[in-house]
Amino acid sequence: MCGIVGVVGKPAKELILNGLRNLEYRGYDSAGMYLNDLAGHEYLTKAVGRIKNLEEKLTPDEQGLVGIGHTRWATHGKPTVDNAHPHFDETKRFFLVHNGVLENYLDLKAKYLADTTFKSDTDTEVAVQLVAKFVYTEHLDTFTAFKKVLKLIRGSYAFLLVDNTEPDHIFLAKNKSPMMLGLGDGFNIVASDAISVLDQTRKFIDLNDGDVADVTKDSYHIENAAGEVVHPAAHIVDIDPSAASKGTYEFYMLKEIDEQPAVIRRLSSAYLDENGQPKFDQKLVAAISKADRLYIFGAGTSYHAGFVGKEYFEKLTGIPTEVDYSSEAGYHFPMLSKHPFFIFLTQSGETADSRVVLQEARKRNIPALTLTNVQGSTLSREANYTILLKAGPEIAVASTKAYTAQLAVQLELAKAIGCYLKQEVAIKFDLKKQLALAAEGMQRIIDGKAQLETLAKADLVHSRNAFYIGRGLDYAVALEGALKLKEVSYIQTEGFAAAELKHGTISLIEQGTPVIALINDPVTAGLTRGNIREVESRGAKVISIVGSEFAVDHDDIVLPATDYLVSPFLTVVPTQLLAYYASKNKGLDVDKPRNLAKSVTVE
Ligand code: M6R
Repeated sequence: MCGIVGVVGKPAKELILNGLRNLEYRGYDSAGMYLNDLAGHEYLTKAVGRIKNLEEKLTPDEQGLVGIGHTRWATHGKPTVDNAHPHFDETKRFFLVHNGVLENYLDLKAKYLADTTFKSDTDTEVAVQLVAKFVYTEHLDTFTAFKKVLKLIRGSYAFLLVDNTEPDHIFLAKNKSPMMLGLGDGFNIVASDAISVLDQTRKFIDLNDGDVADVTKDSYHIENAAGEVVHPAAHIVDIDPSAASKGTYEFYMLKEIDEQPAVIRRLSSAYLDENGQPKFDQKLVAAISKADRLYIFGAGTSYHAGFVGKEYFEKLTGIPTEVDYSSEAGYHFPMLSKHPFFIFLTQSGETADSRVVLQEARKRNIPALTLTNVQGSTLSREANYTILLKAGPEIAVASTKAYTAQLAVQLELAKAIGCYLKQEVAIKFDLKKQLALAAEGMQRIIDGKAQLETLAKADLVHSRNAFYIGRGLDYAVALEGALKLKEVSYIQTEGFAAAELKHGTISLIEQGTPVIALINDPVTAGLTRGNIREVESRGAKVISIVGSEFAVDHDDIVLPATDYLVSPFLTVVPTQLLAYYASKNKGLDVDKPRNLAKSVTVE
């Protein structure tokens, strides 16, 4: 949500445009840039819509050796040019970009800026007008005024600020929104994530909440929340930049769906030894094993992965497990057992809703583990333990390979804890073999993707609404399948426990309504067949996705045989492909669905 790139000491325009393009995946609806050539010329350019609109507005003469750029995902105020960043003060001396939300901006505006003329409807403009106010009325230098403003602000922010009377400095601050400082030879870069500027440097400093800094081309001065000067160590980010490129694919989403068998194989070798035994930090395994209840938190797709995880932890470890929306748990904290252990599922590691729960857990000394795809992300740094999903950069807004990676890591972890607790079912579960079968099965489904495109074109593209139904683990996948279809195709889709339709929702079934039925649960397969007949009798167009052992002649997609516990790895792939092809064949921007952001850093 919002992307930021700033550079000092290097031709800035192309570098920032490139960085912003790499941050497009975060979601945005307008973009802007401030450039200063350090020879008395400055340029402020903003555009609504895609980055190419911004690019088209920039003339070849507009160049800079310092610049700050921004992609905005509208929160306060519509996506207009005036509301796009950078924002500036009344005198046009200070320019600022912001990712986050300032909760008390109206109070600050009323208290300090009653006479100021505002150009935008944003919360952000208050921050830059306040810096100017303190510089002019209290005769503070810019860095001091900036720090004074930060002390007054309540909310989340990653800020970059330029003062055009000392334009060879970028001032920055971070609180709850992601920001990294990249170190170059004769230049320095600031960005929302490392991937966006990996072509410039691999050497980064992670900034902590409360940090504020003054950066020039060959120096940086960082102060922490307590006002102490700190010297954090830089680290090398070891990501293959080509992993974040689309290659020959039209959309990232399909590339990422296709990568799933490789991700599962990678996770099998990363977290299982040659005998198939899980190899996690023993301190972590011991800590979880002491818990009398596990609490899984997540949002969206990660929340759905939590329901599959619940089944894994309960079956293999015997420890009762709850799953909760982070956004709900943050302010309606669950009633806890005596020895709780918290597990956070988050692809990005930056989801603000999940972070609220983690902070509450820290206050209460509840041990916490984050499963994330992003090394060094906020939720990873703030939890007691981290396990990486190793799915490689996930760029499409719709999460696919991170979901299956979350399933694999939860299953591996459940096996590790179950074995530690000497649970027979865990000891006997041949995970290495099951993951190999899962990867092989996923590949077979991916190889047959043409059939899913045919089904999507025939049954989904022209539909207004659709339903997913399933029981047990199939219900968990139904929730995820429904989210995927609606988020990328805009077809209103709901996931239901198969038996629940007849308790109300079946009244929505009309002639031709698509109902996608998932059947892998040996206990309830027959019952779900009954539910299929109920909707078919009322005109539904059923697409059945069925494990081979339960298949009948007219089933649409028959999945290779696997253990029930592993079945979600396979079942979810056709649901992802149906969503992808429905979106693509509606001519939509599959990777960047409207209104959505990849990394949701506001509550
Ligand atoms: O980064 P996270 O896993 O914490 O993100 C959570 C959700 O925002 C995310 O899964 C979202 O629902 C995806 N767009 C779903 O495809």
